[in-house]
Amino acid sequence: MSALAGLYEEIRACRECELAKYRTKVVPGEGAEDADLLFIGEAPGWHEDQQGRPFVGPAGQFLDQLLASIGLRREEVYIANVIKCRPPQNREPLPVEIESCRRWLDRQIEIVQPQMIITLGRHSLARYFPNDSIGKVHGKPRRLGDVIYYPMYHPAAALHQGSLRRTIETDMLKIPQILARGKDLPQDAVESHQLSLF
Ligand code: URA
Repeated sequence: MSALAGLYEEIRACRECELAKYRTKVVPGEGAEDADLLFIGEAPGWHEDQQGRPFVGPAGQFLDQLLASIGLRREEVYIANVIKCRPPQNREPLPVEIESCRRWLDRQIEIVQPQMIITLGRHSLARYFPNDSIGKVHGKPRRLGDVIYYPMYHPAAALHQGSLRRTIETDMLKIPQILARGKDLPQDAVESHQLSLF
């Protein structure tokens, strides 16, 4: 069994927070175990909860289009969420839920060891940079150690607010160049110890 498949079994058995009561299926995440790019969304929605797969509803269709715009299929990247179970009525994840799910995403990142972590939306941005606002930092890469962090708006934001569509598309198109620059990107001024606090 691959490291990820073993981890998915553990995640599917998780009953650590209240969301276990409401879920149809757990949505651990999916993609290539050796992906260079790892995308982090917020939480499963209705479609994801039904299928047990991330980003398979309307926001997911847009994400697939965005990936295609840089010549990638979803199987070639890794896609996860901050929390693995759908909150009732799609409400925002509670801090306690984000906290109890934290170790799963940490282990996914440890296994995949991506070169670039792309945060989609506010909640996944906050996991790394709690003081940043998405409006200011989207589309701006920052390197901490060997990993490049790249905040983007959530694809669902474009579905609710059409004017953001072009911004998201433009930010996505920058990814291949950023990845190619990789270790040449200057190290971010944020101290790496700050990361471990969140
Ligand atoms: N929105 C997310 O943040 N994640 C999904 O998996 C689907 C929609």
